[in-house]
Amino acid sequence: MTRKIIIDTDPGQDDAVAILLALASEEFEVLGITAVAGNVPLALTELNARKIVELSGRTDVPVFAGADRPLERDLVTAEYVHGKSGLDGPDLPEPKLKLQEQHAVDFLIEALRANDQVTLCTLGPLTNIALAFRKAPDIIDHVDEIVAMGGGLFEGGNVTPAAEFNIYVDPQAAQEVFHCGRPVTLLPLDVTHACLTSRDRVERLRGLGTPVGIATAELLDFFERFDETKYGTDGGPLHDPNVIAWLLKPELYKGRQINLEVETVSELTMGMTIADWWGVTNRPKNVNYIRYIDDDGFFALLEQRLARL
Ligand code: RIB
Ligand code: CA
Repeated sequence: MTRKIIIDTDPGQDDAVAILLALASEEFEVLGITAVAGNVPLALTELNARKIVELSGRTDVPVFAGADRPLERDLVTAEYVHGKSGLDGPDLPEPKLKLQEQHAVDFLIEALRANDQVTLCTLGPLTNIALAFRKAPDIIDHVDEIVAMGGGLFEGGNVTPAAEFNIYVDPQAAQEVFHCGRPVTLLPLDVTHACLTSRDRVERLRGLGTPVGIATAELLDFFERFDETKYGTDGGPLHDPNVIAWLLKPELYKGRQINLEVETVSELTMGMTIADWWGVTNRPKNVNYIRYIDDDGFFALLEQRLARL
């Protein structure tokens, strides 16, 4: 049985690796890829998504452009991490793959109405998902589960001391989506900060010798430089591919069902994920919060799957 998924994304080098991992895995029927403004503006995230789909050879997968700004706040981007293009590193050609005319939010609504049990894999701010749920609440029952990269507790924040980037960009969207009533699994910084791209791990990907392996290594060469300096580590955290890897091999991860709320009022802690890991409140346990990863197992899976493209 293949799992029907939609990937919502703001490429971003780590998004790109997540998309390649998904497109290399026969466990998924990828109904579409929806781009959202985040790491860089929408015109670049949709272009980058099309470049990566074309690199994978899976041009059967349609790409849609969605929200160009968060629900309520001004857009905050991260060119300082991802470069001006949002996909600095490899020199990928202009894609032949055309952008779909349909707005990503309308695609999400149409695809969810046409399919039962779709998994939403979110790799960026949750604006598109929140807009689709607001516009067509009937589709929420068609969501099998939401698997999202975002938030953090024990690792603090990466864009402010309190908040992780995806949630910080659109806290209102995150709070609405995390309380939509369907199962939510979160891959936070507590996991991704233990998923580091060491030199050896990057060289093994380059050693695949394929266009995908070489491009992935070049993406990570660029992507890790900022975090290596920031965290003083050999390699940087690889965030988004953990969403896909969790679906492929959940046994690589450990977490627990807890309450999670998002700060949407205080500017000091805006976008903070208040994760009740120790169960000190009686608030509803709305999120499967992943805290631990087998990172060797993750990189073995990543290398094995990317070798297929
Ligand atoms: O904080 C990391 C997240 O923000 C990742 O999804 C990265 O691509 C950026 O979107
Ligand atoms: Ca992302």
